[in-house]
Amino acid sequence: MSDRLYIFDTTLRDGEHVPGCQLNTVEKIEVAKALELLGVDILEAGFPISSPGDFQSVVELSKAVKKPVICALTRSVEKDIDVAAEALKYAKRKRIHTGIGTSDLHIKYKFNSNREEIIERAVKAVKYAKKYVEDVEFYAEDAGRTENEYLARVIEAVIKAGATVVNIPDTTGYCLPDEYGAKIRFLKENVKNIDKAIISTHCHNDLGMATANSVSGIINGARQVEVTINGIGERAGNTSLEEVVMTMKSRKHLGIETGINTRNIFKTSRLVSSLMNMPVQPNKSIVGRNAFAHSSGIHQDGVLKNRENYEIINPVDVGIDESSIALTARSGRAALKHRLSILGYELDHEELDEIYQKFLELADKKKDIKDDDLEVLVGISGSHDRKKIQLERLQVLCGSSTIPVATVSLNYEGELITSTASGIGPIDAAFNAVRELIHHKFKLEEYLVQAITKGSDDLGKVHVQIENRGRYYYGFSGNTDIVTASVEALIDALNRIV
Ligand code: KIV
Ligand code: ZN
Repeated sequence: MSDRLYIFDTTLRDGEHVPGCQLNTVEKIEVAKALELLGVDILEAGFPISSPGDFQSVVELSKAVKKPVICALTRSVEKDIDVAAEALKYAKRKRIHTGIGTSDLHIKYKFNSNREEIIERAVKAVKYAKKYVEDVEFYAEDAGRTENEYLARVIEAVIKAGATVVNIPDTTGYCLPDEYGAKIRFLKENVKNIDKAIISTHCHNDLGMATANSVSGIINGARQVEVTINGIGERAGNTSLEEVVMTMKSRKHLGIETGINTRNIFKTSRLVSSLMNMPVQPNKSIVGRNAFAHSSGIHQDGVLKNRENYEIINPVDVGIDESSIALTARSGRAALKHRLSILGYELDHEELDEIYQKFLELADKKKDIKDDDLEVLVGISGSHDRKKIQLERLQVLCGSSTIPVATVSLNYEGELITSTASGIGPIDAAFNAVRELIHHKFKLEEYLVQAITKGSDDLGKVHVQIENRGRYYYGFSGNTDIVTASVEALIDALNRIV
């Protein structure tokens, strides 16, 4: 009999800490639904006290997904817990994830406190959360660098206070696999009431050991693992869901099974990557575009003779149909359609015809057509379809001693139209000018501008959400000029209405 490993997905909480990759609520719902189909057991939806946006996301995700337990993060602070409980109001199954730093470093420099006081605060937080929900998870932040004897005392106390899951984060990604595994074993053997809770791993990848540490934790007794899709997360990221799940699936002797529908792994990976505008590195295990691509003659020959010669995982098991990713000029329409559907594009007959022609033109020039090429082909066709409105020219006057004024020229279904308007800032002025040119009334619901690096030459990414007759439309653009990016994103959204 295999043991069940619970998959706790934190793509939408810890994973979303990647600079410049924040999602809006509608995008988060799309990811949450994909995670539900993937079969995650617990979905960490956010840190409600951290911002009104995070609060709202937890509320909306609680309404949108029903199967996984919805989890909200808090510090060991009563107000945090009150707000988390409120955000989880609509969740069918809910969990509060509370905790505090337990390493001597955190105790001294973060809390200016002492070990005993930290235990008291931890116990108080768990008891307080228990007033709202039955399922309370406790995290001992920086457990990776916490002395094992003290960690065992903390864990015993919080389980006694009612914690149902105890999370042992290697917050800084410092541990080695044998160290981390030994920590979990130590807790199993030295915490008297450990059988009353599930031990969870939560490993960061600063030394590239997040998956190895998580697997070592599982081998030593953890039965919940905290992961993100594509391993995204702050700094070097978190443990990646696909790596742990496929390790359990392919190393049967470990005797561990998960509830993950592995055939959904690839498309969930691509969804997260495209919504977050965060490419997956080509050689990423399991989901990188080269993960199953055999290019050397010897390997190709070996795989054709018997797949297992060079593959430990059948690509079909993670939702990829062919071990050779590339398509060529000899590939037919059906192969293209199939490949596009794996990438998440369902096209009708006419759209497929159009892309197929472009595909053939490209295949004449380029030997192998990869997923990235197809994404571009679809992008070109899609945007071509949508571009009834195009930005022709934008001129903005702004500065410390002038009222911002923008002149916008649009190509509206072949006709050139221009308007000038003022506003409280250059973006407001440009949006007002666009408003004067468009017949459709719209309300700007959300506007988000993000830079990825710290440089002033950075690309600004803009997301907008507009409302028109009760429906919501999204637009996105990126440009080194943020006013241009903003107008382009607005036009992208408007094109979806027209
Ligand atoms: O890395 C960490 O310690 C965390 C906790 C808040 C669970 O993300
Ligand atoms: Zn973390």
